[in-house]
Amino acid sequence: MNNSFYKDSIVLLEAAIDNMTSKLNIIRKYKQSNNEKDPIEYVLSRIKSEDSMKEKLKRKNLEVTLDNALTKIYDAAGMRIICAYIDDVYSIVHMLKKYKDLKVINEKDYIKNPKPNGYRSYHIIFELTLDLAGDEKKVFVEIQIRTIAMDFWSNLEHQMKYKKSIKNQEFIIQELRRCADEIATTDINMQTIKNMIYSEEEI
Ligand code: GTP
Ligand code: MG
Repeated sequence: MNNSFYKDSIVLLEAAIDNMTSKLNIIRKYKQSNNEKDPIEYVLSRIKSEDSMKEKLKRKNLEVTLDNALTKIYDAAGMRIICAYIDDVYSIVHMLKKYKDLKVINEKDYIKNPKPNGYRSYHIIFELTLDLAGDEKKVFVEIQIRTIAMDFWSNLEHQMKYKKSIKNQEFIIQELRRCADEIATTDINMQTIKNMIYSEEEI
């Protein structure tokens, strides 16, 4: 990546992602050591590219400066956590909130309150306090947590958004909305079946 925009702050963003990755690995190990299922299928992380950061600053009518990128935009460092079940999503949120070096800045539960297009996901922005060899630094990290099925949906919907001209757009929007609702029902059913399987085991 061309890092001329982020300059030395790239170290801070990379350290934030490393730190959050480590927190997630600890959560996975902690759950497994308690004889609970690993709540995470996989994790994706990225540092927002210079071009899309500049575009976002302009879109938000902010001056294109490194300071604004790090203090006014919250997703320079971003992570996506993909889970199998809805309960896993909430379990990860619960566990992450226990960390004393993480402060919740903003939280949006688009699973309980889906967007009008059908988008579902749990978004949380943390301010992470990092100790960079004795130098205390604060950095924002945007975390998106969703199920495999929600992720499948949002990847396709994202493709539609960034295509300039699409035939039958209204029909596609309507079909995506229908699929989002079907996925939501399936996610709930899968969770219910899983709960039934495990409750039988305990009897
Ligand atoms: P920005 O999108 O960051 O300007 O802020 P916002 O206040 O709209 O935040 P929000 O939490 O709604 O969205 C943050 C990110 O979530 C986006 O950049 C996308 O990656 C993702 N996202 C939000 N809404 C949608 C959606 O409708 N479809 C898809 N595919 N992704 C979405
Ligand atoms: Mg948005």
